[in-house]
Amino acid sequence: MTVRVGFLGAGLIATFHSKMLRRSRADVAWGGVWDPDPGRRDGFAAASGATSCRSEEEVLDGCDAVYVCTWTSEHRRLVEAAVARGLPVFCEKPLSTDLAEATAMADIVRSAGVTNMVGLIMRRSPACNLVRDLVADPASGRVMSVVFRDDQYIPVQGMYASTWRGDRTKVGSGTLLEHGIHDLDILEHMAGRVVSVSGRAANFHGLDGIEDAVAAVVAFADGGVGSVVSVWHDVLERPSLRRMEVICERAWVALEEPDDWWGPVRWTRLGGEAGLVEGDALVAECQRRGIEMPNPDGEFVAAVATGGRAWPDFDDALRAHVLADAIYRSAAAGGDAVAVT
Ligand SMILES: NC(=O)c1ccc[n+]([C@@H]2O[C@H](COP(=O)([O-])OP(=O)(O)OC[C@H]3O[C@@H](n4cnc5c(N)ncnc54)[C@H](O)[C@@H]3O)[C@@H](O)[C@H]2O)c1
Repeated sequence: MTVRVGFLGAGLIATFHSKMLRRSRADVAWGGVWDPDPGRRDGFAAASGATSCRSEEEVLDGCDAVYVCTWTSEHRRLVEAAVARGLPVFCEKPLSTDLAEATAMADIVRSAGVTNMVGLIMRRSPACNLVRDLVADPASGRVMSVVFRDDQYIPVQGMYASTWRGDRTKVGSGTLLEHGIHDLDILEHMAGRVVSVSGRAANFHGLDGIEDAVAAVVAFADGGVGSVVSVWHDVLERPSLRRMEVICERAWVALEEPDDWWGPVRWTRLGGEAGLVEGDALVAECQRRGIEMPNPDGEFVAAVATGGRAWPDFDDALRAHVLADAIYRSAAAGGDAVAVT
């Protein structure tokens, strides 16, 4: 079955997904695209072969599955419109501007039973999955601590040029929800269940409701502790960058700059085993360990074609929202520990 894919939103991430779909060689056809910005809408249509539509409804009426790639405050309304038609839906992260809406959205797609997927792309990073595999090896022992840091220049400028990320009514809040949600998602995927958080937030840019520095201490169910730091600065030479360290009883594993997809990943284990891989060598190491590296957009389309489950889905994304909400509540309370259920 050829899956006709529609696009709501024609900005940076919609373009990324369109290119990934083409690269996937999935059995896919481009339906319509709608964006209230005519330049973006027509530019996307010209580049992808999609039809430039005159409304959201025209896109939804002419596709088998839809990508919701608008700014965050529009996600819920558009997901609801898609689900009301029984359409499978890919929604970008974060699901919504707050936890209550994210919960409602997860409930809606679950009840409808439509194939659904969320753009929590770090779960598909070969580098992150290699770290996860090294950490999960019983030879590494239990996770004692993690140190996660992400930073990027505040994306109201530069290649992002998204002024909406400075408007709390559209983005919800700042660096933790908009950017750090990837880290909160991968944190549990890599290192285990979080049971408590304590957070602090700061606002250097003075944008109302848009925090630009967050630090959180997390406690894991298995006894480990860790820290997550997310920052939006003005160093235009630094777009999205990450460093992640996981320290286990008998192993140290790190994902280092510059690339949270292709590495490098470096590790040392008790007994003298040590490694440093990036690029092609990282791919070879993943293959050697049986770590799959599928094209996520190709997987979404394949799941749509069979009516199967895609991953990560809205329920997976909801968990990251739960963590973000707990950190925000803790920060609002001056850093008091907040239990995560
Ligand atoms: N998974 C990731 O790594 C990743 C990366 C970047 C952005 N995102 C997320 O993707 C979403 C879009 O971000 P972006 O960087 O592409 O932003 P962007 O500014 O490049 O594009 C957003 C577009 O949405 C359009 N839009 C607004 N309301 C709309 C509506 N009702 N119907 C159709 N189009 C509408 C805007 O006109 C704009 O062109 C955000 O939720 C963001 O958090 C995810």
